[in-house]
Amino acid sequence: MILERYFDSRKKLIEKALNKYLSPKSKYPQKIHEAMRYSIFAGGKRLRPLLLIATYEMLIKRRDTRRIQKIMPLACAIEMIHTASLIHDDLPFMDDANVRRGKPSCHKKFGNAIAILAGDALITKSFETILKMKKRKHSLDCLEILLQSASTRGMIGGQVVELLSTKRRVKLHVLRDIHLKKTGALLRAAEEMACVVANANEQTTSALSDFALNVGLAYQVIDDILDEIGADDLLEKETGEDSKNNRVTYPVLLGIEESKKQALKLIHDARNIIKYIPNNSMLLNFLDTIQDRVP
Ligand code: IPE
Ligand code: IPE
Ligand code: MG
Ligand code: MG
Repeated sequence: MILERYFDSRKKLIEKALNKYLSPKSKYPQKIHEAMRYSIFAGGKRLRPLLLIATYEMLIKRRDTRRIQKIMPLACAIEMIHTASLIHDDLPFMDDANVRRGKPSCHKKFGNAIAILAGDALITKSFETILKMKKRKHSLDCLEILLQSASTRGMIGGQVVELLSTKRRVKLHVLRDIHLKKTGALLRAAEEMACVVANANEQTTSALSDFALNVGLAYQVIDDILDEIGADDLLEKETGEDSKNNRVTYPVLLGIEESKKQALKLIHDARNIIKYIPNNSMLLNFLDTIQDRVP
């Protein structure tokens, strides 16, 4: 894959910046900084910050490691919120998951109370980080986008409706809405923040926002297929979680084969949405890596 080196190099820059923005382990009170760093650096594909950076470089029509420093606060902020959502998602009274990113989940390592606080601290840190952007207007516009995406209208809302839907007969359109919120909203925020900083026009912003929702829905459907068929190694988490927790998923409602078809159709549509955006090879490559996860 030609762009593997591109994404690898951007991932390294993201991790370097995360290391810079997070407090060192040695800083008092050490335990919380240790827990925050543990979960952030446990692994993680960094999909959301990579999408943000790839979109920004597509829009400014340059691959330029110096210019992307400008958006590193955004890249790190979105990864911090995402990691916080995973720490909370794994808690015993949520999904009760023992493994995350190939390691014991945060509460298994540090206990429930520190895990709750580490999630909270990553969320507050993400807001603090966004405000480090040089241009105040960019900071504030992006902060609003990120806050909305994580809010009760976005990721948290999706998580709540999912919990309330457990063991109930849920219609496909409700499940779709849960996925669009719990997984799609943050990906859309990555696109919209890139558009703000790159000064993209309304049409491009709207196309990229639709693109992200398709990617989010496809990604969650694929993740649930992999959970159902027991792809522990690829997922780097314990599988069978959804059935253990009686979660309604695409595989439960439609079966594995139809779920795969729907995921491939969503990726196909996403490809069409960005067809006319110039310089889109990075995003097409990003889609390929998601499609490659379909078993
Ligand atoms: C996990 O997200 C939660 C889902 C949306 C399925 P990722 O698969 O992006 O997790 P990391 O960040 O790579 O660990
Ligand atoms: C996690 O969804 C999505 C968020 C944390 C918002 P899941 O519960 O389906 O993902 P995994 O399987 O734990 O990664
Ligand atoms: Mg969950
Ligand atoms: Mg979970």
